[in-house]
Parts: sequence; structure tokens; C-alpha cells
Amino acid sequence: LTRKASTGEGLYRPLTHHSSGPSSLEFPAFLRHLSSFWAAAARHRLSWISPFHTAQDCDLSRGRIKWFEGGKLNVSVNCLDRHVHTCPEKVALIWERDEPGSEVEVTYRQLLEMTCRLGNLLRRRGVKKGDCVTIYMPPCPLAVASMLACARIGAAHNVVFAGFSAEALAERIRDAHSSTVITVNQGVRGGKVIELKKTVDTAVDSCPMVQQVLVAMRTENPVAMTARDVDMEEEMLKEDVVCEPAVMDSEDVLFLLYTSGSTGKPKGLVHTQAGYLLYAALTHRYVFSYHDGDVFGCVADIGWITGHSYSVYGPLANGGTTVLFESTPIYPDPGRYWEMVQRLKINQFYGAPTAIRLLLKYGDQWVHKYDRSTLKTLGSVGEPINTEAWEWYHRVVGDGRCPVVDTWWQTETGGICISPRPSDPDAEIVPGMAMRPFFGIKPVLMDTEGKVLTSNNTSGALCISQPWPGMARTIHNNHQRYIETYCQPYPGYFFTGDGAYRSKEGYYQITGRLDDVINVSGHRIGTAEIEDVVNQCSAVAESACIGYSHDIKGQGVYTFVVLKKDVDVQETDLSRLLNDMVSKKIAKYACPDFIQFVHRLPKTRSGKIMRRVLRKVVERDLNGLGDLSTLDDPAAVQEIIQASDKCY
Ligand code: WTA
Repeated sequence: LTRKASTGEGLYRPLTHHSSGPSSLEFPAFLRHLSSFWAAAARHRLSWISPFHTAQDCDLSRGRIKWFEGGKLNVSVNCLDRHVHTCPEKVALIWERDEPGSEVEVTYRQLLEMTCRLGNLLRRRGVKKGDCVTIYMPPCPLAVASMLACARIGAAHNVVFAGFSAEALAERIRDAHSSTVITVNQGVRGGKVIELKKTVDTAVDSCPMVQQVLVAMRTENPVAMTARDVDMEEEMLKEDVVCEPAVMDSEDVLFLLYTSGSTGKPKGLVHTQAGYLLYAALTHRYVFSYHDGDVFGCVADIGWITGHSYSVYGPLANGGTTVLFESTPIYPDPGRYWEMVQRLKINQFYGAPTAIRLLLKYGDQWVHKYDRSTLKTLGSVGEPINTEAWEWYHRVVGDGRCPVVDTWWQTETGGICISPRPSDPDAEIVPGMAMRPFFGIKPVLMDTEGKVLTSNNTSGALCISQPWPGMARTIHNNHQRYIETYCQPYPGYFFTGDGAYRSKEGYYQITGRLDDVINVSGHRIGTAEIEDVVNQCSAVAESACIGYSHDIKGQGVYTFVVLKKDVDVQETDLSRLLNDMVSKKIAKYACPDFIQFVHRLPKTRSGKIMRRVLRKVVERDLNGLGDLSTLDDPAAVQEIIQASDKCY
């Protein structure tokens, strides 16, 4: 390679100043093109305070991922100020509140003002660049302003899904070392009031590092305030509407977001500034064919990565209008989504298969009642979409006119990686398949020996062979775990944890997790996390938790429990208690659907629980139990099969 060719073909001038630095000097040709592509995209799509000098400096095998180094920018300026210059009165957010017809619109100018006041307030109250602020709020404009205010002053945010319990919240606050928490007095969802501030109070009691809790009022009901609580809206009014944006390096942290892995402890994935924003913006525009003036309706909660990338950062970076959905798919009735589509004139609707499966069961009349002619693209995310749900979404919701884009990605990937139509609007779409990689994504399938499968019509472990700007950089406080989880299983590749099938034509279909993570209604949960809670019950000796196929939720939770010797309890009472414990320590969605009490668990001679066997028993696939030769005590399996109709 010549030095000239290695400088991104002259596309980016400042590279030459760093020709001796860690730039892309030794990269093979296709990687150089990839770098040039991303460099051009970054220059074109983002506003920089000062330009980057190196498009990428990545080594997947060592977990070193750096994009656009040397560049300085501010994410909130990219999401707000630059649009306020051109179209201040354009609607940035439509807050679709729980009660239909009570939506609130927020313009770019208003959102910038809110963000600046909040940024100033955070600064005045001592939040500094590099600190981490935990946000425990339902989707609402102040939640978005809180995220952007952090970005404005250079603090990282850590949004915790407002359905998590006090203990789960506390664990995340402690791991993130947040001294500031932002919340609302109460939440409102599906017509019910949720006591979010009380949950925060309980959580914060076990978080000594928390010095202040900013409380916004979602309802008019006053809540008890303690010495550490701050009336957020009142204090914001005292602040200026101008807030100097912090000058951030491309690789400074933008946010942490906790997700489940295969061990009991949730991991805080770290996303950084420029690469993440660029990737969210680009995927939002191309995967959904988002055009200026469109109304984008992503119904995910902001507590998940989908809410981060496609309710907030992607649409706002593109100067779009984005919906914040506070309610549920069936409140006040199963026509809610489509009534909202009609009322808000939504052009792209992005939701989860679990909701589609649920609505399908209520019948077509709930869809037909409303005018959906504004819809152009329908998106699906979070779990595999079965053909029946896909067909219904396409035929009934989209009247057969709108492409359904099944989008595969993860908290780790930052944005959509595989989806049917990254570019060509007429490309073929096969129902139930995520189909094609996004620009710059190179998926590969691995066999069990760790070799790349080159042929088509084959299945394997899904890896990505080249870094991309949106990928998570590390796990907060645990880079070693990042390397072990994503980089070491297939050295030199990013391992996704998912399995996939590549069709004869080369299209991808995601087949599900290969590890002990299950996907309940599109929410990730580690079976080990549930077992950890169940094992804390004094009556329980050990437990094994598995996912099984569930009609609506995609996967349900089935837990086998071995009681301690001489424990004398009613199994129904105990199963109720265990459910309560999981709900209190994690969240409601993680509660077992079934609990079966057994005398022992099937184990290998070395003492490992054979979950594969348990899964087959639950699926009633007794012929598929497979090789049982390593089983320590074959009678354990027979016992479980015979008693499996006795579960709670
Ligand atoms: C699963 C959500 C099949 C997958 C954006 C992945 C999917 C996990 C799809 C990530 C899809 C997500 N088809 N499976 N279209 N999208 N998944 O981090 O197992 O909450 O690894 O991110 O959801 O879940 P996460």
C-alpha cells in the first residue's frame, strides 16, 4: 500500500497531518473504502466544531474501537441548534400522552430552550463534564430534554426503563456512579397512575452517592419531597434559555444503557458521541425511507435502545418530527395505534412483533376503523417476527402497500444492522426475514469450530467482520467483559450472541439467541438474572430458568425450582412469593409464566445444568432430547417429564 492511497484517497485533508499516527495505513483496500465512506458521511451529516483527523482506528480483536478521532462536536447542537437556525417552528416532538387526543407538540425552538434551561440547571447544581446522570422517566419531552441537556454539558446519561423495580434501578445507579437522578412525580400508562418518584426514593436510599433528585410533575398530584429533591420545572424557570454547549471529543461518552447478558449482572453498554449519532441518523433516514416533513412514529419506550436511537437521536439529528408514545397498544382499546396514526398522520410506524401478535388476535376491525393512508413504511424490531404477524402487518395494517422492514440490531450495535431496504426502494422483501446488511455492515456466519461459513443456505453464529461507527465501545467499568463477550468468541470478529440463517439468495434471517438470554415481549432478560432472584428465597436450593415459545410474548419464562430439604410450604404460595420477588427485584416482565417444583435438575457429571434438555421437555419434544450420555442421573429427566403437568 502506498501512503497516498492510505489517506482515504484524499477525501479528508487533515489525515495527512497524522500520517505517522494510528490511521488506516495498513488497511486492505475494501476497509479503506469503508473508512472513506464513513468519513464522507460524517463530514456531510454532522456539524463539527473542529474536524476529525482519523476516520477510524479500530482493532476488533482487542476491543479497541475509535471513530473520527480529533473531531470535536456537540450532539445537542447537532440535534437542535442547527435545525433551529433553519426551521425553529418545526415540530420536533409529538408527545402522544396516555389519553388519546391529548397530544402535545414541541417545536425545535422550544426543545432547545428546555434543553438549555435544564443544561444550565444541571451545571449550576454541580453536574460536570464526564459525570453520569440517571434518568428514570416515561417517554415525555422533559425526558428527551434531560438526555439532550446531559449531551449539552458533556455529562453521560443513563436512562433506566421506568418499568424497572427500585432494586434494579438502584443497581444501575450504583454501577453508573450517578450523583444526580431525574424523574417525574408519577407516570400514567394505560389509564393507571404509577408511583415513579416513590420507586426512586426507595432506590436512592441504597445509593449513597446520590446527592440530588430532580423531580418533574407529570401529574398534578403532589408527592413527598425530601431534602435531596429539587422541583425541576420551578428551578428551570430561573435559568437562561441559552446554554454554552460543551466541546466534546468524538469518543467521549454520550450515554450508558444497561442491558442483560448471560450472567446475573446487567451490563452498562457505552456509546460515544459522533459515531453513534451518525449511525442513528443514517439508519433512521435510509432504513425507513424517512423524508423531510414525515412524522416518525416509533412506539418503543425511551428506556430501551430503540427509543434512544429512533425516538430521539436519529430523528432529531435528521431534523425530523418524532412521536413519544406514553401509552399501551390496547389503551383505551386495541385500535389505539391506528387511531393515533390517523390523528397524528404518521408516515413511518415502528413497533414490536409482540404487540402486532396481540393486536392480530383482536381482529381486523380495529385497524379498518381508521385511516392509515399516511403510512409509508412499517417497521418491526426486538425479536423475530413470525410469518403470520408479518403478513397481517403488511396486508391489514399497511393495506398491502407499505413495505414491512424487519430490523435486526441490538443495544450493542447502536442502530439497525440488518434490514430489507437500506437503499433500493423496490428491493424484494421476504416475509419474516431481516434480509440485507446496512451500508458498511459485513455480517458473517460461523460454524461450531469458529470457521467462517462461506456458502449460502446455511446457519451459524452471527458475527460482524468490520467495525462500524455505531457500535458500543465498552462495558462501563468492565472492558474485560466486553472483550470476553463480543471479541473473544470469534477473534477478529464482533460476536452478536444471535444465530442466523443465510438463504440461497444470500438473505439473512435471525433465528434467536445462542446464549442464556431470552426475549420476552422484545425485552431482553438473562435467565441467570431470574435464577439469582429465585435462589435468594430461603426455601429454594437451586433453580433453572429457560425461555419457551409463547404465542404473544415471543418467549415466556419457565422456571424449575428445587426446594431445600425439609421445607414444608404450599407450592402455590411459594410460586406467588417467587413471582413477587422477581417483580420487586427486576421488573414485572421478567416474572416466570410457569414454575415447576422438582426434586433435582438434570446435570452433567461435572455439575452443569442441562438446559437444552429442560427446553425440550417444556416444548414437549421428547424425541428431540438428544444425547443424554453426559447426564449424571437419567432418572432426573424422567421425573420432570412425568410431573410437568404440575406447574404453577
Ligand atoms: C433480538 C433491541 C430477530 C436479538 C433493538 C438481539 C431480533 C436482541 C430482532 C437485542 C429482529 C432484535 N429479529 N431478533 N428483527 N431485533 N432481536 O439489545 O436476539 O434490546 O440480540 O435491542 O433482540 O435486544 P436489544
